[in-house]
Amino acid sequence: MLTVTILGSGNLATHLFKALNASEEVIINQWYSRNPKTIKAFEKTVNIISDINDLEEADVYFTAISDDAIAAFTEKLPFKDRLVVHCSGNVPMSALSPKNKRGVFYPLQTFSKERATDFNVIPICIEAEDQEHLILLKKIGSKISSTVHEINTEQRKALHLAAVFINNFVNHLYHIGHEICDVNQVPFHILKPIIEETTKKIMDLNPIDAQTGPAKRNDRNTIENHINNLEQHLPDYTAIYKTLTSSILNTYGREKL
Ligand SMILES: NC(=O)c1ccc[n+]([C@@H]2O[C@H](COP(=O)([O-])OP(=O)(O)OC[C@H]3O[C@@H](n4cnc5c(N)ncnc54)[C@H](OP(=O)(O)O)[C@@H]3O)[C@@H](O)[C@H]2O)c1
Repeated sequence: MLTVTILGSGNLATHLFKALNASEEVIINQWYSRNPKTIKAFEKTVNIISDINDLEEADVYFTAISDDAIAAFTEKLPFKDRLVVHCSGNVPMSALSPKNKRGVFYPLQTFSKERATDFNVIPICIEAEDQEHLILLKKIGSKISSTVHEINTEQRKALHLAAVFINNFVNHLYHIGHEICDVNQVPFHILKPIIEETTKKIMDLNPIDAQTGPAKRNDRNTIENHINNLEQHLPDYTAIYKTLTSSILNTYGREKL
């Protein structure tokens, strides 16, 4: 049996708790939160604590707190020589306090508390200071997911950067599309089939082969029309349109805007 403790009670911590708690081979010893009211709903299932001095021994401590707080928080932990991991895409393993054994357990997915997720399909990127702990993290990862990858800090940072483009930025572009619909009083839901097809398409084609649209075709009149429309109705988005259009033109060997 593997014993673990979760530190933090935000989006990821909550999903991690649910996934680990569902595994019969993992025991969640404790769940620490500096604000335990946020996880009161789980108090009958797990021992919730709000003081790090009450932390008991566990095989792994999952630090699922804000990136910027990881270094100072792990330095304050009242024990040493135990395995403490963080769950961030962009924080180096070396940011963890060296008084404990260090590792990373990064599930590459977007998590929101209010949305259910299937952890089994989420790739887990692991890193550890030594082979023994790498094996341990692989073992825990495989209890909740079917894909566990050994990924070093630089590779993980690159994956995180790519994920910002393909998730955060794409989602922001959905938001812009939503605003354009609102301003012009057309329902956003009419766009949902094209959103779905855009995602499905790159499961079979490379993104470079899946590209369509006025920038790919070099349809300058259409591009000009779009820019005029934005300048009139939503001028804050003109720069994004021009930057992305130039990038697509450049990718397909055309002259930039
Ligand atoms: N959400 C995702 O999609 C996702 C995906 C992969 C990895 N991650 C990683 O998971 C980690 C947590 O992200 P999240 O999205 O779950 O964040 P979140 O929902 O904002 O939750 C952050 C948690 O950290 C706690 N916290 C912040 N500063 C703290 C401190 N100094 N001491 C103790 N607790 C502190 C917060 O407590 P309060 O509630 O009291 O402020 C909260 O419980 C990050 O490293 C992030 O990079 C997130």
